Amino acid sequence: MNHKAVLFCTFLQCLSAFFSSAAGENSVLKGEDDEFEPSMDQKDLQGLVKYNMRKSLDLEQEGCYLETGKKGCLEECGFNATAKTIFIIHGWTMSGMFENWMHKLVSAVMQRESGANVVIVDWIPLAQQLYPDAVNHTHTVGLDIAGLLNWLQDELQLPLQNVHLIGYSLGAHVAGYAGTFVEGTIGRITGLDPAGPMFEGVEEQKRLSPDDADFVDVLHTYTREALGVSIGIQQPIGDIDIYPNGGEVQPGCGLTDVLAVAGNFMEVMKCEHERAVHLFVDSLMNRDHMSFAFQCTGPDRFKKGVCLSCRKNRCNNIGYNTKKMRKRRNSKMYLKTRANTPFGGYHYQMKMHVFDRKQSSNTDPTFYVKLYGAHSDTEKIFVVHDDPISMNFTNTFLVFTEEDIGDLLKISLTWEGESESFSSFWKHVKHSFWSWNANTAKPVLEVRRIRVKAGETQKKFTFCAQDPSKTEISPGESITFVKCRDGWEVKPRKRLSM
Ligand SMILES: *[C@@H]1O[C@H](CO)[C@@H](O)[C@H](O)[C@H]1NC(C)=O
Ligand SMILES: *[C@@H]1O[C@H](CO)[C@@H](O)[C@H](O)[C@H]1NC(C)=O
Ligand SMILES: *[C@@H]1O[C@H](CO)[C@@H](O)[C@H](O)[C@H]1NC(C)=O
Repeated sequence: MNHKAVLFCTFLQCLSAFFSSAAGENSVLKGEDDEFEPSMDQKDLQGLVKYNMRKSLDLEQEGCYLETGKKGCLEECGFNATAKTIFIIHGWTMSGMFENWMHKLVSAVMQRESGANVVIVDWIPLAQQLYPDAVNHTHTVGLDIAGLLNWLQDELQLPLQNVHLIGYSLGAHVAGYAGTFVEGTIGRITGLDPAGPMFEGVEEQKRLSPDDADFVDVLHTYTREALGVSIGIQQPIGDIDIYPNGGEVQPGCGLTDVLAVAGNFMEVMKCEHERAVHLFVDSLMNRDHMSFAFQCTGPDRFKKGVCLSCRKNRCNNIGYNTKKMRKRRNSKMYLKTRANTPFGGYHYQMKMHVFDRKQSSNTDPTFYVKLYGAHSDTEKIFVVHDDPISMNFTNTFLVFTEEDIGDLLKISLTWEGESESFSSFWKHVKHSFWSWNANTAKPVLEVRRIRVKAGETQKKFTFCAQDPSKTEISPGESITFVKCRDGWEVKPRKRLSM
């Protein structure tokens, strides 16, 4: 084993230990007594992969089981070959039980698609192993699913186009294998934060990839790296790969948010990894509050607000509502979300030319905006910028609101004075030592108008200073902008279709 592999295994064992202590049991490392040989053939699998078809929303009820080759089960389960068939595939498990999200996802799918065949792929005995062994089993389980689908095609002429596999974590790669081995092409595979360790960077045949179904969409929620690996895979592996909040820090999952409630570091990881499932559930349940994602080359550019375009399929709904686009591999899309359901919010691109009028070349102004809408107003929102604001230059920012404020009517731009950094304060003091005069020392910027584009509606507006003589701003001051008198609305090129 090379150095990296050793580190990686230690990391995973560490994880296992954490998980088992979190679950209050120590059966985790039992993979070591090798209950199951890795190279088991299909016969040995009998009973280890179960297909639990849900019949009622009451999840306490057992449902019934589909078995390859057993026609009786199909009738007993009321399997409808002309309806949609949705398989839900769990991932690695420490507890040996379904986690709570499973019930939420199953009931959301059943409520949205009431006539569909909803099947839980239960491979718990093979998933409750040391992580590398569970990884090895993804191949076998995928093959088993493909076997069932082939039989359903033969027996009932099940159209594969109506089959949708939804896999979480390791389950996403199981779905990938099923897509590889089945005869024909599955309609859709959704990967919910597909597992990263032992899949990142490997060839397409050994992980979920765009060829595994007609349409492969992926949500990435936990791609932050620790010791060279991340729990969720970082690279794009579908036709569309959506990275909510950059795929990194999910709002509401921070140490302080989660520790306050659960008091366990593992809860943070679980929160971020599982967020993909909850976003998907949200997309099933809240059809009138859809979230949109926008294509962008990377999270940094998205944070700058430069990627809010919907032209040429550059934006899409997220989760279940994601629309299939012409084959386009590895299209990375981004959005910001709220911390809770409904997760969707509103993205605005703001462009403003910042003129340096006096003493400002060394300042890094901290801007806040407050948006006034037809329905409601926002709080003051910090205008995030990683690089210093460029002087005598048009700067672009992304502003995100959690509420739908309605049509934007007015913007107030504030330069928060007290947040001036110490270094610029001292520069300022030194600078003005010989000519101490607060008035001349004060930096002055000028902003004449703000161009706004709303991501969700694709509407564009130009806002002008309400008082044309008040376009200059110094620390502690504000400028108010209203829609410019003429030509403030720029006709959208293409409206979003829901
Ligand atoms: C996975 O299974 C193969 C045989 O099917 C075996 O050679 C390999 O060592 C296994 N890998 C792990 C990590 O257990
Ligand atoms: C099977 O599904 C199809 C398509 O959703 C529907 O039209 C039909 O009524 C269903 N059949 C039964 C027996 O429920
Ligand atoms: C911006 O332009 C003004 C004059 O128009 C000039 O005095 C100032 O130094 C410029 N600032 C920067 C940072 O280039």
